[in-house]
Amino acid sequence: MAKKKNNQKLPKLGMLYLDYVLRFFDKSNFKGWPDKIETVTYHWKNDKDRFIKEVKRKKIDILIGNIPATAYETFREIARELPNVQFIPSMDTQFSNKSKENVTRFAWKYDIPIPKTYIFYDKSKAEKFIDKTEFPKIIKKSYGPSNYGGYFVHKVDSAQEAHNLLAQKKYHPVYMQDFVPMEADVRVMLIGHKPVCAFWRRAPEGEWLTNTSQGGSMDYMDVPKELLDLAVKVSKAANAEYWACDVAVGADGKYRILECATAFAAFPYIRDWIGQYLMWKFSNGRFPKPNIPLYNWEELGKMDPSVLRTLRYITFGRYTPSYDGAYFLDKKVRETQEGEMYLHELDALYPMLMTEDRTKEEWPSEKWNFQDNYGHTVRKVHAQSNPKIKESDESAEAQEQEDMIELTEKKVKKLLTSVEGIGKKKAEQIMDRFDTTELVHTLETAPHKIMEEVSWFKKKFMKKLVKEWEDFKEKLK
Ligand SMILES: Nc1ncnc2c1ncn2[C@@H]1O[C@H](COP(=O)(O)OP(=O)(O)O)[C@@H](O)[C@H]1O
Ligand SMILES: [Mg+2]
Repeated sequence: MAKKKNNQKLPKLGMLYLDYVLRFFDKSNFKGWPDKIETVTYHWKNDKDRFIKEVKRKKIDILIGNIPATAYETFREIARELPNVQFIPSMDTQFSNKSKENVTRFAWKYDIPIPKTYIFYDKSKAEKFIDKTEFPKIIKKSYGPSNYGGYFVHKVDSAQEAHNLLAQKKYHPVYMQDFVPMEADVRVMLIGHKPVCAFWRRAPEGEWLTNTSQGGSMDYMDVPKELLDLAVKVSKAANAEYWACDVAVGADGKYRILECATAFAAFPYIRDWIGQYLMWKFSNGRFPKPNIPLYNWEELGKMDPSVLRTLRYITFGRYTPSYDGAYFLDKKVRETQEGEMYLHELDALYPMLMTEDRTKEEWPSEKWNFQDNYGHTVRKVHAQSNPKIKESDESAEAQEQEDMIELTEKKVKKLLTSVEGIGKKKAEQIMDRFDTTELVHTLETAPHKIMEEVSWFKKKFMKKLVKEWEDFKEKLK
């Protein structure tokens, strides 16, 4: 497999494991890697320094593995203390693994369609909102160690039900979505932004939860191209080596993302493909890029799951038009919005791509760890700057990190009323919906959200407010 002529030194790989957490990869997924692959295990509870030392001692260049939600913030710190170690997937790519809130903030930033979502850190704001909004709504636990199977997802049909639920569950933050009537949802798995597996999940008759763990059904056939396109867009936005998205197919025909993450259940042969993709990425072409044809899942999905669980190292031949009938992509056509296409034509539209290696943090915790940052005194915080990368070419590139700005309510009011046409009353309406932290984040990352939330807030207000905000920040410097 590996070409002999290329004698370039390969990076040292390490598997990142955590006690009590199921392992997504093991060495067998990296079959053919000629060098020793290290493992490092995080033991939780004050294990950070020991863990860092072990990674250094083992001279690991690349640490591979998923971080569970409850260790995510610790690993953002660990990653900063190991600036020369590349985490795969990166901590930024794993941002969505931490919580539903993070999935939402990621989607807001990249303009990815999701059910309309409301996040409240201030309980009284949530309660006010409940009293004036429409039902049904969905309330979810945003963050938690065992957040799966729809167990923490509730449909509420009235304000009273919502109040009761929140009184009982004490979810923090309060995470609410419009209820989207849906036909089904589709789990799409991607490697290097190429869909490699997809299947439908349908709710049992008369139910709304499409989770198969609740007795729904699944099948692999006829996932629309346009739905795959959305999954690709999301994977690219996350710069993900491997990725899974749950895409809801609404009764209105629209696609919306429900969940996305690097941590998901996958058959071993899929994890082998991820290993092959990563070996290609790490070896500078010494290992070949795996060839995984689009819609392979429709064929493999005909097998019993008990067989799929045992299959390993599946490879496909490449499409050669002259080679008579040897390949399934040759035979089938598919309906798309652009008309009928051969599978091999479609396949060519979904290349497996190399992810980018980035050095700047996209989601620094000083700014994005709402759960822990929230509620601290309101002030302007100078975030710690990243450690400089020593002895490397990147060291010249200053790794600046944006300051986190928090404001008092008084200042926010002043900012809002500085916009022509916004008086005290209107400012209060905005502040009713957004608390100060939320408003700063909205201004920084998705100002259009204010238009969605506040009916009279039109584009001209948004433009002026964004301008006032920029001026305001200038003065803080
Ligand atoms: N906004 C929504 N409207 C309607 N149904 C939803 C909505 N959000 C989630 N669901 C249903 O609840 C299921 C579980 O929600 P999800 O966000 O995937 O949480 P988890 O899988 O972590 O429990 C989804 O598969 C879907 O069937
Ligand atoms: Mg789900």
